[in-house]
Amino acid sequence: MNTGTFGPMPHGVTDALVRAYRWIGSKGPYHPEVRDRLGLEYQGAREVVAHLLGVAPQEVTLTRNVSEGINLIAGGFDWEAGDEVILTDQEHESGFLPWLHLARTKGLRIKILALTTSHREILSGLETLFTPRTRLLALSHVTCTTGLRLPVREICQISHKRGIPVLLDGAQAVGQFPVQLKEIGCDFYAACGHKWLLGPMGVGMLYIHTAYLPRLKLPQIGWGSHEVFDWETLEYTLKNSAERYEYGTRALPLYAALRKGIEYVAAWDLEKITGYVTRLASYTKDRLLQIPGIHVHSPLDPATSTGLVTFSSEDIPGEELLARLWSRWKVLGRPVKKPHGVRISLAFFTQEAEVETLLYGIEQIIAERRKDHGI
Ligand SMILES: Cc1ncc(COP(=O)(O)O)c(C=O)c1O
Repeated sequence: MNTGTFGPMPHGVTDALVRAYRWIGSKGPYHPEVRDRLGLEYQGAREVVAHLLGVAPQEVTLTRNVSEGINLIAGGFDWEAGDEVILTDQEHESGFLPWLHLARTKGLRIKILALTTSHREILSGLETLFTPRTRLLALSHVTCTTGLRLPVREICQISHKRGIPVLLDGAQAVGQFPVQLKEIGCDFYAACGHKWLLGPMGVGMLYIHTAYLPRLKLPQIGWGSHEVFDWETLEYTLKNSAERYEYGTRALPLYAALRKGIEYVAAWDLEKITGYVTRLASYTKDRLLQIPGIHVHSPLDPATSTGLVTFSSEDIPGEELLARLWSRWKVLGRPVKKPHGVRISLAFFTQEAEVETLLYGIEQIIAERRKDHGI
């Protein structure tokens, strides 16, 4: 129950990975047949990502992870001391660090939006943070702390009214429910393949709205970024697409596997996945709330919920609860620092029986703990 950290790879994904490495192993990586096939797989992955997100392939940069995507955007602006960026208080470390680093090195100012489970409160809180120096919003689509779904469409509308672009971190969103970026209206969207898309580690994606292509700086560049390179004059032109951010030798087999992961999840139908997971999450939260001393930190309203369920116990610290759940019932979750607790991930392949094992395990551990302490 840890897809929010790493999803399992279906056989088709592992097969694609192994097959690609076998071609390389048997014929050599620069054998024309292998090179062409890997090249087609790589561009095929871009097409599949673009289709998944409802954008054009030219707007997709294939990255290695979410952090890289966020950094490409952070490095793309000409920051001046005193410029402001709005984040939430529940970002992943990688949603904080690039901005904290810019605060340290360039004098960027960070404004923090305190999240609640109420979309109305989030939107009114956001309105109070804009100033004439606001240059960017960089927020999670779904928080990794509690799985709260943010009102991203409304956030983009509010921000765009002031001419301010929005970068969304979609690490916990893609593969959990349909994500159509043109409907959301964001300017940048960073996501990864190794969680809910069931792809391999080391693959990600970044959407860049075409309007920003000429305006964003390239923080890094190399072969692959250019369309033309003149060896005599050393003049070059960049690719006229988001592919300009991809440079140097890349692990092409990983992207063949990413493509398979996305195709696998999409074949299950993301609408159906959302329906099943929402019901399972609501059931799990209801049952957790019946266990003495358990607090559920994730939203209870299905409209703002996802398959991430975060809770804590008054009787036992999260790390210890997780260790016991793993050693006795082989249930794997992940600790969360803020709010302090345990996060479990419910996916479309999570069985109701597995949820029952989790609940039974928690009840047993807490009952034993209470008995030991004479409660
Ligand atoms: C919301 C969020 N952002 C960013 C990350 C970091 O992702 P990556 O390891 O792909 O850079 C994670 C990983 O858990 C996450 O949940």
